[in-house]
Amino acid sequence: MQHIPTPHNATAGATPFSLSDAGLAECRAIMARYPEEFAKSALIPILHIAQTENDGWLSVPAMDAVAKLLGIQYIEVYEVATFYSMFNLSPVGKHVLEVCHTVPCMLRGADDVIAHIGKRLGIKPGETTKDGLFTLKAAECLGSCGTAPMLQCGAKYHEHLTIEKVDELIEKFRSGEKRNNYTDRIEA
Ligand code: FES
Repeated sequence: MQHIPTPHNATAGATPFSLSDAGLAECRAIMARYPEEFAKSALIPILHIAQTENDGWLSVPAMDAVAKLLGIQYIEVYEVATFYSMFNLSPVGKHVLEVCHTVPCMLRGADDVIAHIGKRLGIKPGETTKDGLFTLKAAECLGSCGTAPMLQCGAKYHEHLTIEKVDELIEKFRSGEKRNNYTDRIEA
């Protein structure tokens, strides 16, 4: 596999990425939890920080910056970032709606939820609305089967979904200013 540079995801400095001072301090605090020779243990939380600081997705320069910070090979970062569905490898909308469609959620109406969101926003799973507000994803089991059907947006789960609840959520997100990130704190 080979990365084909694009205008928004090139290498050699064309689309540079660097962590903010606050992001870097947070990364260093996470790295301090592990012995230096096991710096790679901090990879996933640091990728989340990089993703948050890169508008919700990981460009090649962002992954390379994480590799340099941790002192590991680029490929070690790519292996992880391409494996987990929570890492986006191309630009996404401000709100990424990940609707679980594994069997328990499917039996409780996940397909209807996906179809409704798709119709309402005019997109299919894997697509982003033209205004850049929403990306729809069909996700595999998110470990919340007992509250099916459900979707994840950033760090938060939205459970026992109905079409009405989905409509409310979309309106809430549409009027919200903040991007939903995996690094958000969950209020109790
Ligand atoms: S099947 Fe949907 S959360 Fe497990």
